[in-house]
Amino acid sequence: MIRCKSSWILLSFFLLWSFSSVAQTPGKPVDAEGHQWWQHAVFYEIYPRSFADSNNDGVGDLNGIASKLDYLKDLGVDAIWITPCFPSPQVDFGYDVSDYENIDPMYGTLDDFDALAGAAKKRNIRIILDFVVNHTSDQHKWFIDSRTSRTTEHRDWYIWRDGKGQGPPNNWTSTFGGSAWKLDPATSQYYYHYFYPEQPDLNWRNPAVENAMFDVTRWWYKRGVSGFRLDAVDTLFEDPNLKDNPELPGKTALGDPKQERKFNSKLPEVHDALRGLRKVADEYNGVLIGETWTSDIAELNLYYGKGNNELQLPMDFLFTTVNKLSPADFRKQIAAVDSASGWPTFVISNHDIVRAYDRYGDGQNNDQIAKLMAGLYLTLRGTPIMYYGEEIGMKTTPPLRKEDVKDPVGRIGWPKEKGRDGERTPMQWDSSDNGGFSKAAPWLPVPATAKTHNVADELKDPDSILNFYRKLLKLRRTNRALLDGSYSPINENDQYVLSYLRVYKD
Ligand code: NOJ
Repeated sequence: MIRCKSSWILLSFFLLWSFSSVAQTPGKPVDAEGHQWWQHAVFYEIYPRSFADSNNDGVGDLNGIASKLDYLKDLGVDAIWITPCFPSPQVDFGYDVSDYENIDPMYGTLDDFDALAGAAKKRNIRIILDFVVNHTSDQHKWFIDSRTSRTTEHRDWYIWRDGKGQGPPNNWTSTFGGSAWKLDPATSQYYYHYFYPEQPDLNWRNPAVENAMFDVTRWWYKRGVSGFRLDAVDTLFEDPNLKDNPELPGKTALGDPKQERKFNSKLPEVHDALRGLRKVADEYNGVLIGETWTSDIAELNLYYGKGNNELQLPMDFLFTTVNKLSPADFRKQIAAVDSASGWPTFVISNHDIVRAYDRYGDGQNNDQIAKLMAGLYLTLRGTPIMYYGEEIGMKTTPPLRKEDVKDPVGRIGWPKEKGRDGERTPMQWDSSDNGGFSKAAPWLPVPATAKTHNVADELKDPDSILNFYRKLLKLRRTNRALLDGSYSPINENDQYVLSYLRVYKD
């Protein structure tokens, strides 16, 4: 990592000129520019296992989230995205859903959800759910039926194929290690799973699947949710002829031969499905946020769709791949996403990647750098999606021993790949033993930094990261240039200082 003093980079924004919106989407505008609610909103991702534990069983829950709504309101959050809280065997901590229309008892009940939604609405906070569209749990009733016989009703809801010779149908590997095919003895065929074997891929080529999934979103919109973060959209479709993926030199951290995911990722058919989901979203003025791992802006543009008829907010993860505090690299990426065909979405941390605090921190000026990063992505033209704990400077704390790892991929890949426990540790509410997260031992240990970085103490300190976020979010909420203004880089050759104007009318 390049060591870079935070003072080298200065963010400037001035209020000038006028700007006209790029968004062409339907829905109720919230300002004279025709912007929609999600263009002004600040989103906040909550990993429910780790946010607040109301019943002291060591795992966070919906009532815990409800108890922190005032905190979120004061912080300046407009919408919370809750990662999957549906019934699930929890193999992938909720990303293996066994019932899309219920709440896992670990997190509460549907009544708790309704209470949370009601309490959030009172505070003008919207709820976004995480919709796992690519796969279900192997314990979902659709898959339980699907595996019973080759002719059963739900057989074609998943991807079943005969093997080739003694092996699987082709060379596709799972992103979590090993072949992406699992032989099921009951019917002697293989099923396809891009993620863990307990996460069989749905067959989106089957219209019954498509309709069932559209209906799931309707069910939740009617219950008051304002949209969805769509999980793993890149991999919704596979080549029907199952062509082998081209192999690349080298091995992955999990020990598999590297391959180009040419035939099982980003197939054009993905866009038909997204247009369908968007049609339903538009009926409810909902927003679709995409987990879109694009390799350039041309790919990102595809996810907005022609005339913005797919995802309103495909996440720009390219922003998170700028791994050092390099003005030139950020400048390039900001300019690229600013020129995209839809509204930019900025993310610096989430539950799958190393937290920004560590990614950019130099070990000496981490708190200042955390403020700097807030100053950057909360003042750009676009919608920011925060990750819980970022506002207090939570750091990534990976497990030290293999036997402590909870995320299965960390056990498969240990020690090269330690999994994602490090970025999912409990929220640090105060300096008490379990960081104020729970009275019981938390499912993941609370990092030692809870003593120095926690909500209670930072609220009292005017110079804390938390108070920096609060002030900045307040400014952002009331400042038309920050909400609606254009982005104009200045001093573009300066190698130490990243500066830009946010320009709105005069
Ligand atoms: C992306 C999610 O963010 C990640 O946590 C999960 O493991 C995979 N999709 C599979 O659902």
